[in-house]
Amino acid sequence: MLEVLESGMLAQGPRVAAFEDAFTRLTGTRHAIATSSGTTALHLALMAHGIGPGDEVITSPFTFIASVNTILFTGATPVFADIQEDTFNIDPNWVEAAITPRTKALMPVHLYGQPCDMAELTALADKHGIAIIEDAAQSIGATYGGRQTGSFGTGCFSLYATKNVMTGEGGMITTDDDHVADQCRLLRNHGMRKRYQYEMLGYNFRLTDVLAAIGIAQLGRMPEATRRRRENARFLNAQIESVGTPTVKEGREHVWHQYTVRVPDDMDRDDAVTRLTEAGIGTGIFYPGGAHKFPHIKEVVGDVEMPVTDRVASSVISLPVHPLLEPADLERIAAAVNAL
Ligand SMILES: Cc1ncc(COP(=O)(O)O)c(C=O)c1O
Repeated sequence: MLEVLESGMLAQGPRVAAFEDAFTRLTGTRHAIATSSGTTALHLALMAHGIGPGDEVITSPFTFIASVNTILFTGATPVFADIQEDTFNIDPNWVEAAITPRTKALMPVHLYGQPCDMAELTALADKHGIAIIEDAAQSIGATYGGRQTGSFGTGCFSLYATKNVMTGEGGMITTDDDHVADQCRLLRNHGMRKRYQYEMLGYNFRLTDVLAAIGIAQLGRMPEATRRRRENARFLNAQIESVGTPTVKEGREHVWHQYTVRVPDDMDRDDAVTRLTEAGIGTGIFYPGGAHKFPHIKEVVGDVEMPVTDRVASSVISLPVHPLLEPADLERIAAAVNAL
């Protein structure tokens, strides 16, 4: 990072290119395109797939709002498929029922770092000729059947400050599709291939070399950090008895961006959060409500029933799982949760 600062060349340049190369080595995709955020990555990926007014994109309502907002940015209509109670990820049965002749893409969200049911979802996408745009914002390094998330279609990663690999703000698109990659690169930089020659309407969604330098260092630390997250999650799963602990489905490697438990029906979540806070344990609620509940989304999709999302959203609590936790911290977390 200091080298970049001393060079005086701060904008998108050789460090961004090296960071993109490092991502292609991770995901095994032909292309990686760095962007200014996970949100702009999703936005560009949708546009590069030609998605716009009149099209439908199926996604999960139990996600960060950017998954849905980016669909709205393109003028397309988000269509929600409810989630599975055990994984918190989109349910392929709901997806199948939601497909119409207008469905252009499916956006699975690998929530908390656990891959979705990619075999079922890719089979559906192939059968109906629809694109897969993975929201892999939280799942860097996670695998399904040994294959990295972000490599099943067009992948979109977030490098936001809290993510497992972060640059403060930043994002990455991964794809094997030459046309999609070319469109993403053009749209990222004002539709400009040659200097001041504009082929189309584009944006400034570039990442800087300063941030790419951080990202390269972060990627190098990822395997060890992920190993520690997995160890921490294994410990918590073994020790916690008072609330529902997360399940990992067969054939996938979770990266534990979040370690999320569910309070039982007879436990008040707000009270549990207060008591954990008093015991010095940090918590997060991701997310307190499904995306289908917000007014700007309701305006487009109307009133839809997402019973599993509603149930899950009212009972989740995320606990610390980060790589800097010491054994004594983990014991304190498990003890405080078991005392609820
Ligand atoms: C599931 C999901 N999608 C999209 C995003 C958007 O990423 P960013 O905050 O980098 O724009 C995030 C992260 O914030 C996320 O968690």
